[in-house]
Amino acid sequence: MDTADGLRWAGELTLTRHDPDTGATFIIRVDSVRHGRSAGGTRAARYDSLTDALRDAARLAEAMSLKMAVSNLPMGGGKSVIALPAPRRDLDESTWRHILRLHAENIDRLNGTYWTGPDVNTNSSDMDTLSETTKFVFGRSPGRGGAGSSAHNTAVGVFEAMKATARFAGLGELDGLTVLIQGLGAVGGRLAMLAADAGAHLLVADVNADRLRWAQEFGCRPVDPDAVTSAPCDILAPCALGGLIDDAVAQRLPAAAVVGAANNILAGEHAGEILHERGVLYAPDFVSNAGGAYHLVGHEVLGWDADTVADHTADIGQTLTEVYEISSAGAVPTDAAARDLARRRAEAQP
Ligand code: NAI
Ligand code: PHE
Repeated sequence: MDTADGLRWAGELTLTRHDPDTGATFIIRVDSVRHGRSAGGTRAARYDSLTDALRDAARLAEAMSLKMAVSNLPMGGGKSVIALPAPRRDLDESTWRHILRLHAENIDRLNGTYWTGPDVNTNSSDMDTLSETTKFVFGRSPGRGGAGSSAHNTAVGVFEAMKATARFAGLGELDGLTVLIQGLGAVGGRLAMLAADAGAHLLVADVNADRLRWAQEFGCRPVDPDAVTSAPCDILAPCALGGLIDDAVAQRLPAAAVVGAANNILAGEHAGEILHERGVLYAPDFVSNAGGAYHLVGHEVLGWDADTVADHTADIGQTLTEVYEISSAGAVPTDAAARDLARRRAEAQP
């Protein structure tokens, strides 16, 4: 995918709109409509340039296609980015609601080609607001007929991925291992509790002081957010914004394995190969973090009950082990192995 200028990419569709009143810019990218419709969350964030926002949306949409395919979910990938004029916390509620209404109008114009859901800086209550204007929304609150937050199930899936990775890397069970979690938000915070219950020693980093304090209260040791890629640990769990591991970081990362919730953990073109050559076991994010997609698409499209969603989420460890076996057998990086498995599973879908 050549996304150097943010426009040349192999996806299906890009919708952009700028609102001069609020200064917000809206992007919807549909990566694949092989299965008729695509899905992926709405990320609201600040970007340095329109090119950066377009590029981020393209990469995130492609990751959603891979996630749907490797998880055997019958949808394509898409993603929305709202490039905000100011940090989300600085926007007053009426401006934010106006921004959401415009975003919902854009989604509605695509007439079901793209379904949205929660992602960074958007939650179930925001999905409720979007649903006042468009019906193409996953993850509304249960009281409004939706499946609610996907974060818990995402954390459970990442936890399964972490256990499978520790075993495959020869580290054994999580009990006694040092796990460094970057980002203690909706997913990372829950993951911290699951890993602590399993006996892991937790190092944690967050730019939000309240979240850090909360984690310290149950025994986690804080790490400077700028030091997450230089602090020695058994498992690094990126659960913030992605793009953490570029080629240079991959070259010197002092961890035995990387397993996290963040979409697009690898930033460098060769980061996956470098980790592979150094023997650092990388769990491809679009495999590990599929618990949220199982929760939303499972409940709202496939009519699954909670037990069925839980069963599929528990299988994430098994899918990841399959990825590691393909990687070992073919001496290819795990990221390439996971893409190969996603392609094969997509081809096998009706
Ligand atoms: P969130 O916004 O609730 O949490 C993100 C956390 O990261 C916040 O606590 C924030 O303060 C922290 N953070 C931001 N920049 C940081 C930095 N430089 N260093 C340390 N901490 C930093 O988001 P959520 O929902 O927990 O998602 C986390 C990641 O997982 C995102 O990349 C998201 O796309 C991905 N993801 C989320 C899913 C979900 O169901 N919520 C599903 C699949 C992926
Ligand atoms: N944003 C989450 C993800 O990246 C959850 C989500 C899944 C949202 C599927 C919409 C559709 O997986």
